[in-house]
Amino acid sequence: MARALVVLAFAILLVPGALAAVPNQHHLSIVPGGLAVTFANVGGERNLDARVEYGATDALGKVAEARFEASLPPGIAVYSAVLTDLEPGKTFRYRAVLNKQAGPVFEARAPPAAGEPLRFVAFADHGHEHATSRETVAAALAADPDLVLVAGDISYADGRSIGWETWFGMVEPLAASRPLMPAAGNHEREDVPIPTAYDSRSYDQFKGRFVLPGDEFHFGFGAGNVHFVVVNSEDACATSRATVHTPYIQPGECKDAAGNQTLMARLDALLSSPEAKAARWLVVMFHRPVYTWGAYEGNPIIEAHWRPLFERHGVDLVLTGHDHIYARTHALKDGKPVSAGPEVYAEGEGPVYVVTGGGGNKKYDLRPPPYPEWLAVANSTFHVTHVRADAKRLAVEAHEVPTGALVDRFVIGEPFDPPIGDPPTRATPGPAPVLLAAAAALLALAARRKA
Ligand SMILES: [Fe+2]
Repeated sequence: MARALVVLAFAILLVPGALAAVPNQHHLSIVPGGLAVTFANVGGERNLDARVEYGATDALGKVAEARFEASLPPGIAVYSAVLTDLEPGKTFRYRAVLNKQAGPVFEARAPPAAGEPLRFVAFADHGHEHATSRETVAAALAADPDLVLVAGDISYADGRSIGWETWFGMVEPLAASRPLMPAAGNHEREDVPIPTAYDSRSYDQFKGRFVLPGDEFHFGFGAGNVHFVVVNSEDACATSRATVHTPYIQPGECKDAAGNQTLMARLDALLSSPEAKAARWLVVMFHRPVYTWGAYEGNPIIEAHWRPLFERHGVDLVLTGHDHIYARTHALKDGKPVSAGPEVYAEGEGPVYVVTGGGGNKKYDLRPPPYPEWLAVANSTFHVTHVRADAKRLAVEAHEVPTGALVDRFVIGEPFDPPIGDPPTRATPGPAPVLLAAAAALLALAARRKA
């Protein structure tokens, strides 16, 4: 009882409008047929008259009925409505209404039409307790993207549902104005045996809070000229029950391939869908990295079993997190670099793998040299990854947060002509930056001198 009172007190303190139970914690997501507006009611009532009013101007004028999605601790009811007739790439306004209590009016932008250029940002391992997590939101907002991706380990609520309240309040300025599409990470499995109060169980908050296509863990969706495939990489460890209940699976623990079979079939189907084949670019997002160079090693199951699927289906870019660093491979075929890059890769050479795990939680250190041949760039820094997809190229830049310093830049497809600016510095201020090309050259020189 005492704990419930504390939780309620926190809810009232942290959630704007909690006492009035007006709609709050708004966020947008891409679903079949339109954009979902999802919002919460603190009070947990499930049978309210709920709707979203929207339109191209302040007059709004259209109405989408909302449906009850979930009841979640600490006394939250989630509602969602699908806006079906938005003009692609255009701004619109909306507000949620619960029992005649209207929430604020938000200005948002619908994603570009199929085939049109797309700009999106990605980050992972975000969190709700750190100033750096808020800085990530500000950096993503300043980029004015069409779409936001979060590659798992989203709120770090870790079973304390109040953490989700804080997280959704923190991201609302971003997520209420652009669609935000998440992948589930190990911290979304909230049956965590940690010695603290927790009231949410495995995936309850993730599944109840987000409205996503498919089963919400494995799905494809299109935005502009990109088709995205999202999967839950926790499934790769699904039969390792002894370890699946800890969020801190160590290198080498995730080795049981049997639980991976169902997921591989789903992944194969998602990557070979007509929408995936028709799109100009194919991007895959999940949480656990295939290749990385920080506190974790790449997941051996994913490397052995998923990588061939990515290559066979012509995946251009794989976005992951989990390791709290920025790391990026060359374009890889059979796990080996096809060309040296490090800034331009021909289309179809093989996927480039990006770990964008410096989303705001704590940073991890890089492993020391010697560096593997597949690794192009690694940097232990908070950052946001920015992607511009046009007809000629997929242009990717990682920018440090909050300084905006360039951490990495590469292009899949045609290089910019003329070049878009100075070459990337890669060595940025902050702990343990590495300039891999220079380091590799120095090592090679030292080796030659020894020999
Ligand atoms: Fe993780």
